[in-house]
Amino acid sequence: MSTHSGREVRVLVVDDDPLSLELVTAALEQEGVEIASTTDSRQALPMMRAQRPDILILDLMMPGLTGMQVLEQAREQDSTLDVILMTAHYSTESAVEAIQKGAADYFNKPIDVEKLQSRVGGLIEEVRRRQRARRLDEEMVETVRFEGMVARSPVMQDLFARIRRVAPHFRTALVTGPTGTGKELVARALHNLSAKSNGPFVVCNCAALTETIAEGELFGHMRGSFTGAQQDKAGLFEAAHGGTLFLDEIGEMPLSIQAKLLRAVQQQEVLRVGATAPRKVDVRIVAATNRTLKDSIAHKEFREDLFFRLSMVQLTLPRLADRREDIPLLIQHFLDHWSAEYNKPIAGLDHRALTLLTLYAWPGNVRELENTLGYAAMMARSATIMPRDFPEEILGGPAKAAANPAESSTDYPLVSLEEMRRLHARRVVESLGDDKVRAAAILGVSRATLYRLLSDAAPENDRDEETSPSASAL
Ligand SMILES: Nc1ncnc2c1ncn2[C@@H]1O[C@H](COP(=O)(O)OP(=O)(O)OP(=O)(O)O)[C@@H](O)[C@H]1O
Ligand SMILES: [Mg+2]
Repeated sequence: MSTHSGREVRVLVVDDDPLSLELVTAALEQEGVEIASTTDSRQALPMMRAQRPDILILDLMMPGLTGMQVLEQAREQDSTLDVILMTAHYSTESAVEAIQKGAADYFNKPIDVEKLQSRVGGLIEEVRRRQRARRLDEEMVETVRFEGMVARSPVMQDLFARIRRVAPHFRTALVTGPTGTGKELVARALHNLSAKSNGPFVVCNCAALTETIAEGELFGHMRGSFTGAQQDKAGLFEAAHGGTLFLDEIGEMPLSIQAKLLRAVQQQEVLRVGATAPRKVDVRIVAATNRTLKDSIAHKEFREDLFFRLSMVQLTLPRLADRREDIPLLIQHFLDHWSAEYNKPIAGLDHRALTLLTLYAWPGNVRELENTLGYAAMMARSATIMPRDFPEEILGGPAKAAANPAESSTDYPLVSLEEMRRLHARRVVESLGDDKVRAAAILGVSRATLYRLLSDAAPENDRDEETSPSASAL
């Protein structure tokens, strides 16, 4: 049975009346579940610990512990447990009390077998769905770590797949994307997954290369080739021999040096300043820039031939705002990092803090998120980070983005209020790892309304319900 859903769904039945117990277990046998049962209510909790049931069916009036007491303790032990109560002494009060204590349903005795089967059948389906979702989640979690990067968004998963495919083969690659999106991490991944991973990974910050020093830095120089050149010196190309040269901020490379750079990349040889004979090198190039090189080419600041040479493989990192589903994962990743760094236990964020981070525009992308959490972890007065621990710009985040029309057209969803409700609901649910119960509480709507908001159909008459402060902060 249900080999695809992990393990069997387990049901524990507790009823002091053996006949009634028999009836219920017989009715459930056809549902293909694993059943355990007892007539002793004091055995219910120890059995629960041993069997870890998904569904618990309880008689209300029992000697020892009452069904209500077992319900309370059982839900305390496992808040995802579905509990059904049965009683021959039905009253509205006890039904309400049971539901408030977290019971999924309440049945009258004598038990209507068909009703029981259909209701428990529904719960079983739900448990199986949950198991499947949890398994998918676990599979996702395995693929989210890649060479020091974490991400779950489809765009990033695609990028990881491309890196894996090109890394063994590329000679030159160009990594583009806005500041703080992880270009350097991608460059290192390309190196680590290549056949040259044992060779050096040499970083050259092109923005620091002035026209006068660029040639010597990249290609080296001979003794006496200029005042102060006391001895022969290898350049970065030679240093990267047998490995990868990372040309960071390639867009800032002085134009005068670009032709020589192209030649070195193409011929795989360098001429030290003052030397007469070129030297052979074996170097892979990864270049990175947050500029649009096409614009630089149009402005005659970048050579088109060099661009074509470098961009044979082009990898582009998206803005963090375009992959918000990565934010919760990144938060966890950086919280682990900072709490180890500060030797300060940080368990997580309270829900308003989490909502703020999920909705913020992140102009500085992942680096800004990393620094924000570093700051907040430092400021936090307890193990839980609160909104007050964030710097100003995060607190005023969404409002600021909306106040700046230039930014709002790209960063802020220009949609109707109705659409915004749906968008916001979805984001909050995502940021809570799909915990709809908490999401509904935060949003200040009923679970039914939340489900309506999440379905693509336009919500109907639910405007009477209040939205929470985090929603109105929009
Ligand atoms: N997917 C990710 N997972 C974990 N950490 C990340 C991720 N992306 C970026 N980072 C971290 O964010 C910071 C910025 O990344 P990186 O230096 O690679 O950005 P960049 O694109 O090179 O930025 P710039 O254009 O400003 O140089 C680093 O501390 C990096 O470790
Ligand atoms: Mg960088």
